[in-house]
Amino acid sequence: MDIHKKKRDDNIDLFLRDRYCKFLNNLQLKPILICMPDNEGFVPVIEEKELKEGKMKLVRVEGTPVLFIKQKGKIYVIDDRCPHMGCGFSGGSLDGELVICPCHGWRFNLESGDYEDAPSYVLVKFPFKVESGKIWVKVQDDF
Ligand code: FES
Repeated sequence: MDIHKKKRDDNIDLFLRDRYCKFLNNLQLKPILICMPDNEGFVPVIEEKELKEGKMKLVRVEGTPVLFIKQKGKIYVIDDRCPHMGCGFSGGSLDGELVICPCHGWRFNLESGDYEDAPSYVLVKFPFKVESGKIWVKVQDDF
């Protein structure tokens, strides 16, 4: 196979997918994102530069509330719904590597995902990648 043709086709594919996502997102009144996944199942959700240090950004991806967090230069992508009773972490706060739920104050470690007092409660962390200046997320159905 012609490697240059494959690269060109991949670039066209990425360009069309990006345009398609923007078109769909412009139709939405809420920040809900529905777009075509790449070959690995990742969808582009936000520009990397949108995510500021020490901040959280909530985006609905195909109905799932996905929370982007940047702490100490590191990106975390988690389900916004707390594993305790489903409150949104986006209304809570950050303390170093911990995200704190606004409802009952449970503190979860962003690295391990564990609730500090009962490790049986674990954050749902989504696989992601940073590519072409965007953060791509794989939101799996089996969570
Ligand atoms: S719902 Fe999050 S700590 Fe209770």
